[in-house]
Amino acid sequence: YLMGIDVGTSCVKVILAQDSGKIVVSTNIEYPLLQPREGWAEQDPQQWWLATVSAIKKILSTSGIDGNEIKAIGLSGQMHGAVLLDENYQVLRPAILWCDQRTGAECDWINEMIGAEKLVAWTGNHALPGFTAPKLLWLRKHEPEIYSRVRHVLLPKDYIRYCLTGELATEVSDASGTLLLDVSKRDWSKQMLSALELSEDWFPRVVESAVISGQVCKSAALATSLREGTPVAGGGGDQAAGAVGSGIVEEGLFSVALGTSGVVFAATNQLTVNSDSSLHAFCHAVPDKWHLMGVMLSAGASLQWFRNKLAPGDSYDVLTEKAAEVKPGGEGLLFLPYLMGERTPYPDPSARGAFIGLNLRHHKGHLARAVLEGVSFGLRDSLELIRSSGITAQEVRVSGGGAQSSLWRQILADVFNIPVTVVNSSEGPAFGALLLAGTGVGIYSSVEEACRTTIKVVNKCEPIASNVTVYEQMYDIYNSLYLRLRDTMH
Ligand code: XUL
Repeated sequence: YLMGIDVGTSCVKVILAQDSGKIVVSTNIEYPLLQPREGWAEQDPQQWWLATVSAIKKILSTSGIDGNEIKAIGLSGQMHGAVLLDENYQVLRPAILWCDQRTGAECDWINEMIGAEKLVAWTGNHALPGFTAPKLLWLRKHEPEIYSRVRHVLLPKDYIRYCLTGELATEVSDASGTLLLDVSKRDWSKQMLSALELSEDWFPRVVESAVISGQVCKSAALATSLREGTPVAGGGGDQAAGAVGSGIVEEGLFSVALGTSGVVFAATNQLTVNSDSSLHAFCHAVPDKWHLMGVMLSAGASLQWFRNKLAPGDSYDVLTEKAAEVKPGGEGLLFLPYLMGERTPYPDPSARGAFIGLNLRHHKGHLARAVLEGVSFGLRDSLELIRSSGITAQEVRVSGGGAQSSLWRQILADVFNIPVTVVNSSEGPAFGALLLAGTGVGIYSSVEEACRTTIKVVNKCEPIASNVTVYEQMYDIYNSLYLRLRDTMH
């Protein structure tokens, strides 16, 4: 068996699969998101580890599978979060997460001080509040005492690697999201570290994602019932690992991950020059491949907000049934999904959501439909940016919680005017991490082969021409709204 662990924002997920890729069992354990101030998002790394230990123990005991039968483990996790350790490897403060918006000023400073040209040459990217480097500059300014004690900086899943193996390591896909990696060389950028006056010693060695980074150590084996010495692969940031888990490892294939955030992801054969400051150009979890990615901050989160706050008591199924009774376009109602600020296409922590075009006929179904459509239009913004970099999409594979809704899949196909597919593996990043681990121990000859052997398309949604026409018109309006309303949001 192979094990995949995904340290997410709401929970840790652990899965076990046979070498054939057949998933045997999956479990998850939740932990809270701390929001000590508006726009802040933190989590206690120790809670990730405790939840991971419980989830591993639970999956082994409920499946009856012995720790000795696990050939390798792959790690995946929420990207960008800054885990800060002191000289004794103790956590110094709660991790500052990907969706934390406190670093607008630090990003402006980096973008101005270094300048777009050098930033793109050194790191492939521009500074965005989610990325790790601006979080470190925020700490230096606002919590100098803690900053002075920092000796190691890790990403969320790499902290779990440290707890599991005692090794300090990261891998290329997650490290790309720090804004400190030279994504073309797939190693830390000395220029960037020195421009920001950050010590190179703080950052762990960088491996390729399918390379074994260490073995389960004695104390972790005792805590989890895993076998001491079990190989742990590099793994991937949740987006790159999720792409591997959906087979997005060849140019021309795009994916949309509809979780809390919404991510449009395209595998590329070369490092493609970033056509827009809000697009991410990162290393893929596949050797010699890269990816372009646009990240919307409130995708599933918008529907979750709507259900929890405005339709309490409705299940997602009931809500999407009501939305399905309404015609495409919701009789003129539009929704802007910037509930937590936005990253792509508008790198603006102060952006806010809106319903526009309300009239007396609109009921809950219209509002729910507008949320599904508004998120889909926002994802199309990312798709268009990727297309303008010269990468074309033949097919978009959708995954994550939102992919379970056939209505949402149809809306995406109609808004994108591209077929939308679903694959047999629904476990996303944890499954991709497991395939990387299987490649690391030689069960598969390459990541591409791992995907070919284990992943099949099981559902395809073709665009419906009449809906495409309606959405084309609405997209033009949607597209103009943020710029027209921006002043009212700040
Ligand atoms: C990717 C990103 C998010 C998190 C979600 O750049 O910020 O997708 O990784 O977990």
